[in-house]
Amino acid sequence: MKTYLVTGGAGFIGSNFILYMLRRYPNVKIINLDKLTYAGNLENLTEVEHNPNYSFVQADICDKAAVEALFAREEIDYVVNFAAESHVDRSISDPEIFVKTNVLGTVTLLNAARKAWAVDDDAYKEGCKFLQVSTDEVYGSLGETGFFTETTPLDPHSPYSSSKASADLFVKAYADTFKLPVNITRCSNNYGPYQFPEKLIPLMINNTLQHRELPVYGDGMQVRDWLYVEDHCKAIDMVVRSGVPGQVYNVGGHNERPNIVIVNTILDYVKEHVDSTVGAQLIKHVEDRKGHDRRYGIDPQKIKDALGWYPETTFEVGIQKTIAWYLEHQDWMKNVTSGAYQSYYQKMYGNK
Ligand code: NAD
Ligand code: DAU
Repeated sequence: MKTYLVTGGAGFIGSNFILYMLRRYPNVKIINLDKLTYAGNLENLTEVEHNPNYSFVQADICDKAAVEALFAREEIDYVVNFAAESHVDRSISDPEIFVKTNVLGTVTLLNAARKAWAVDDDAYKEGCKFLQVSTDEVYGSLGETGFFTETTPLDPHSPYSSSKASADLFVKAYADTFKLPVNITRCSNNYGPYQFPEKLIPLMINNTLQHRELPVYGDGMQVRDWLYVEDHCKAIDMVVRSGVPGQVYNVGGHNERPNIVIVNTILDYVKEHVDSTVGAQLIKHVEDRKGHDRRYGIDPQKIKDALGWYPETTFEVGIQKTIAWYLEHQDWMKNVTSGAYQSYYQKMYGNK
């Protein structure tokens, strides 16, 4: 039985990954280490909380003693590092925590893994692997044509993407310097169940259902490349097990859409299936994000050729499943939008 240390497993993608793994594999053990920031929510994991192959540890990935104690206690085979501050807008108003968690936290985990897995100088426990969950944003912004490949130079623009690119460079350094077996995955924008409603898709779904304004940054013609979260989880599962150590794999489904098209898709669906009174009158173009990247687009050919990965959920199906999920889980939305979310929302959108 392989033991996975999943960090940030109470967040959006981490929760989906844990559910994906435990639904599929009866013989994997998962330890979820999460600080439970505003973005972490154990309610996402009620389905597995009594599963004997699952356990939860509340800790900060920057806490060296806690991370080392966990490695000493458990026979960990794989680290999958999802833990991060993940929201670009928050990184613009408060960059420091992004450096702390995303850079220092990753280095703390790398050190602990290296120490626990070392069997000799530059030789490590058989089959161990450190997978860093990174993002296409480290490559910067594209013009109207072309795609990001694994050899595209890193050119991050926001404090968030700069912190993720820094973490990627440390992961690479630990492979180059210490021969630690690592992989880095760089995925495009995810959407699906359990995404915190600070991000475009759940925010627009929630606001539409609440008849609140839909704040579109600038002209709304910025392009993102959307992937259903389960397809990202499938890619991570494949890379952990079969990725060649030291390699980077881009993950994306060639599914680019301008933000305004996403907003209109949500509006149209809700208007047709849920509430005929909503419409374009809710859209409000607001001040643009500072340094806003214009377009992301992933070339996923390497992971397709090397590991046989392909996305299973089309955007048309994925967005309907996602809207239906939020409709069925209005209590979840109520819980995560009470308290601190209200002051975040007011600060972020109140004066726009
Ligand atoms: P999220 O914000 O929903 O979740 C982050 C999780 O990390 C939360 O559970 C939070 O409590 C935890 N966390 C934060 N700081 C921590 C710390 N110091 N110690 C331990 N736990 C901590 O993020 P997400 O959208 O699920 O993203 C997960 C990862 O995937 C991130 O590394 C992100 O950069 C990357 N990524 C996200 C996307 C996307 O579209 N959301 C796309 C590509 C890559
Ligand atoms: O590309 C992968 C990245 O995708 C991940 O690394 C990040 O963790 C994740 O947050 C996401 O970053 P984005 O900045 O692309 O996602 P966000 O949902 O914040 O915004 C998507 C687009 O929608 C972006 O162009 C900004 C725009 N937007 C966003 C919000 C929240 C709006 O127009 N209005 C909004 O209110």
